[in-house]
Amino acid sequence: MKAENGNKKETRILRVSEVNFDVIIDEAAEIIRKGGTVAFPTETVYGLGADGLNPDTVLKIFEAKERPPGNPLSLLVHSREDIKKVAKNIPEKALLLMDTFWPGPLTIVLEKKDTVPEITSGNLPTIGLRMPDHRIPLELVKRACTPLAAPSANLSGKPSPSLAIHVLADLAGRIDAVIDGGGTAIGLESTVVDMTVEPPVVLRIGAVGIGELEKVIGKIRPTYAGAESGSGMLMPEKQAGQKYSHYTPNTQVVLVEGKSEEKVSEQIGILLEEHVSKGQKVGLLLSDETAGFFTAEELNVHDCFLLGSRKEPEGAAKRLFEGLRTLDAAGLDVILADGSFSHSGLGAALINRLREAASVRHLV
Ligand code: TXA
Ligand code: MG
Repeated sequence: MKAENGNKKETRILRVSEVNFDVIIDEAAEIIRKGGTVAFPTETVYGLGADGLNPDTVLKIFEAKERPPGNPLSLLVHSREDIKKVAKNIPEKALLLMDTFWPGPLTIVLEKKDTVPEITSGNLPTIGLRMPDHRIPLELVKRACTPLAAPSANLSGKPSPSLAIHVLADLAGRIDAVIDGGGTAIGLESTVVDMTVEPPVVLRIGAVGIGELEKVIGKIRPTYAGAESGSGMLMPEKQAGQKYSHYTPNTQVVLVEGKSEEKVSEQIGILLEEHVSKGQKVGLLLSDETAGFFTAEELNVHDCFLLGSRKEPEGAAKRLFEGLRTLDAAGLDVILADGSFSHSGLGAALINRLREAASVRHLV
């Protein structure tokens, strides 16, 4: 794949195993120290890493991803020492979050120090930090001796990668290397919480839920689109860092949600008939239970991607981006998506990503 800016380079694929772990991480750390870009798995999604304190290397991330300038990058850190290098005036509550959720899928936005270049923070006075719960990025940060700027390793506007092949589909020829460490455990991006305001604000929901955060630091304000609030769904003004469009597939996604699982299945059936009668090609993104509502023949005729049981949002979250990528590449007119998954645990983040991907939403 040729990079539009003409910087076609060979992207090395570094397959990591127990046996070669040290050699591979040393190799990747050297690429980073020399100012290169390396993609790698984390427990959430694959990230694209470069020295986060060097504006020239950070620019390479923006170019490779075609990321709009001004959209802030977060930094992956390995230790409390790393944090002191880049953040100041750290509130007590932020330290509590670090103690509770790090290493893990929580990005904490703090006041930044001048060591962090403007390009990294998107000209904001703040910086998002995360200590990932994954051996590869932790060792890489340690051995590269610098916090890594590491956004998700996809082209801007595409879904985050949960497999190395997704990274290559988007960024081959644009980055120096990808470490193939298999599928990511969670499959959705981290929760982002801004600790520079009071009450703290959740900018993006991930595997760490609102309730879990509130147990540790008290009241917080969710501001991501589609958050459930007392009066229904929240569609607030976008905050800094939320201005840029999230992933929406090229193919129209129609999401069906409702309290009754039976009604959701029925409605997907009705919509399927409607679209088919117009001669359209339809894709189905379904829970196993909703798939059970259709005959094997119906499922065979249409492109169908199963996300697993609606009672297990963890499994569905892991497969969601793969499902959206697969169906979006199938040349369809519409994707009918099942919103009947449990909202507990990772379900809140799963439903949030489905709502963001969808341009039409049916509530039954
Ligand atoms: O799980 C993750 O967070 C993954 C892995 C690779 O670590 N990374 C990731 O990065 O999803 P990215 O850049 O694709 O998403 C980070 C989100 C963006 O929506 C960005 O706008 C927001 O966090 N963000 C970063 N720094 C911010 C800041 N200082 N203030 C507000 N929002 C910020
Ligand atoms: Mg991203």
